[in-house]
Amino acid sequence: MKIGIIGTGKVARALGKALGRNRYHLMFGSRDPQKAKALGAEIEHYGEGGSIANAIHYGEVVVLAVPFKAIESIARATDNFQNKIVIDPTNPLIFASTMADLAIGHNTSAAEQVAKMLPGAKVVKAFNTAFAHHIEQGPYFGPNDASMFYCGDDEGAKKSVRKIIEDVGFEPVDAGPLTSARMLEPMAALLLRLSNGMGMGNEIAFKLLTR
Ligand SMILES: NC(=O)c1ccc[n+]([C@@H]2O[C@H](COP(=O)([O-])OP(=O)(O)OC[C@H]3O[C@@H](n4cnc5c(N)ncnc54)[C@H](OP(=O)(O)O)[C@@H]3O)[C@@H](O)[C@H]2O)c1
Repeated sequence: MKIGIIGTGKVARALGKALGRNRYHLMFGSRDPQKAKALGAEIEHYGEGGSIANAIHYGEVVVLAVPFKAIESIARATDNFQNKIVIDPTNPLIFASTMADLAIGHNTSAAEQVAKMLPGAKVVKAFNTAFAHHIEQGPYFGPNDASMFYCGDDEGAKKSVRKIIEDVGFEPVDAGPLTSARMLEPMAALLLRLSNGMGMGNEIAFKLLTR
């Protein structure tokens, strides 16, 4: 499967490395195509780099590994998201203190706003509730694999994203329709409050227990 990853930061790199190990074909897209090419060259098997438009065009799946605030300008610049599966890992966080907060929430979510900004795209919220280094290294905590919650309104798109989540090593948890992003985005704020505000450090992750 061909995956376009927009961004060259922590999440782009982490997902790129993890997916590269699993032999996905990747193209990174950046405002600076040279940065994207350099990151593509670090990928184990099939990594390329180019402009943001190149990565969107390339991907059957496109990952928005950018700040939430950046998506509006990306959306304005292209209508190439039609029928693409779009993974939204963004968290609309405010960092006024170590107690991370949400800029929006409760009756909407970043993911729902992304879906409005990218008409025709099949948006799936995923990879927002774990730290990038656990995405890169594998989310293995002793006998447990961390859970990765995902949600969206297109069942076919969710099936593809579930497989990606499994390949990266997380236990996938289907959280239902895209409106569930209203619950998943605050989980990222909680993770950061525990990590930074409460001093638990960054070797923590969410696990859903079942029996
Ligand atoms: N870090 C984590 O552990 C983590 C975990 C889960 C989810 N998230 C979420 O994932 C997203 C990415 O986080 P990150 O930690 O990877 O951030 P990051 O390291 O700051 O990287 C963000 C990337 O976005 C691109 N970018 C920034 N402004 C842009 C703009 N105006 N237009 C287009 N591209 C722009 C930049 O790439 P170029 O300079 O190459 O264009 C940059 O490398 C965020 O929404 C974050 O909330 C982060």
